[in-house]
Amino acid sequence: LLADHHYAFQPAADASAPPLLLLHGTGGGEHDLISLGAKLSPGSALLSPRGNISERGAARFFRRFAEGVFDLDDVRARTDALAEFVRIAAQTHQIDLSRLIAIGFSNGANIAATIMQRQPDVLTGGILLRAMVVLDAPAAPGTLTGKRVLLASGDHDPLMTADDPRRLARHLRSGGAEVDHHVHDAGHGLVDADFSVSQSFLQRLP
Ligand code: MLT
Repeated sequence: LLADHHYAFQPAADASAPPLLLLHGTGGGEHDLISLGAKLSPGSALLSPRGNISERGAARFFRRFAEGVFDLDDVRARTDALAEFVRIAAQTHQIDLSRLIAIGFSNGANIAATIMQRQPDVLTGGILLRAMVVLDAPAAPGTLTGKRVLLASGDHDPLMTADDPRRLARHLRSGGAEVDHHVHDAGHGLVDADFSVSQSFLQRLP
């Protein structure tokens, strides 16, 4: 199963820093978020898979029929397969899943959210940058107790309405997650505020 994903891995230089699961946006790759992860959390182990769907050559984590129209059967199957990849990679590289934090951007943030909804045991929290609702259902009560989520949205993101990430926050809170939702003056692209809220979120982790 490890062979199903191209991935980058950087071992921890500081055992006290939380391991990070880095999930890139559409058209990205396994190296995209390595320097962001290393800057946000120096010394963390970094596990960074490449999405194994190709949309006309652009790597993604699940299929869509059109922009914002997701193939939900594929979403469920890819979410479960990525969670299994994470479990096996964690064994291979001695990553502690009870401390693993996802950092995802766009399509990567979306699959981080669907992992929380379907496979909550592989993550303790996540930084979801420009995530939107993909699986439109509240997480089952109690399934996300103790998990921490930072959701960072742009107030003029052309890919989603303002209500969309709010609904995602509600879905995750239904499961018991503690969700901080920041809405910045931004579009879909990242801005400095994403970096600063992510850094303080990581510093506040127990
Ligand atoms: C998705 O397809 O997951 C979202 O539309 C974000 C993206 O463009 O990747």
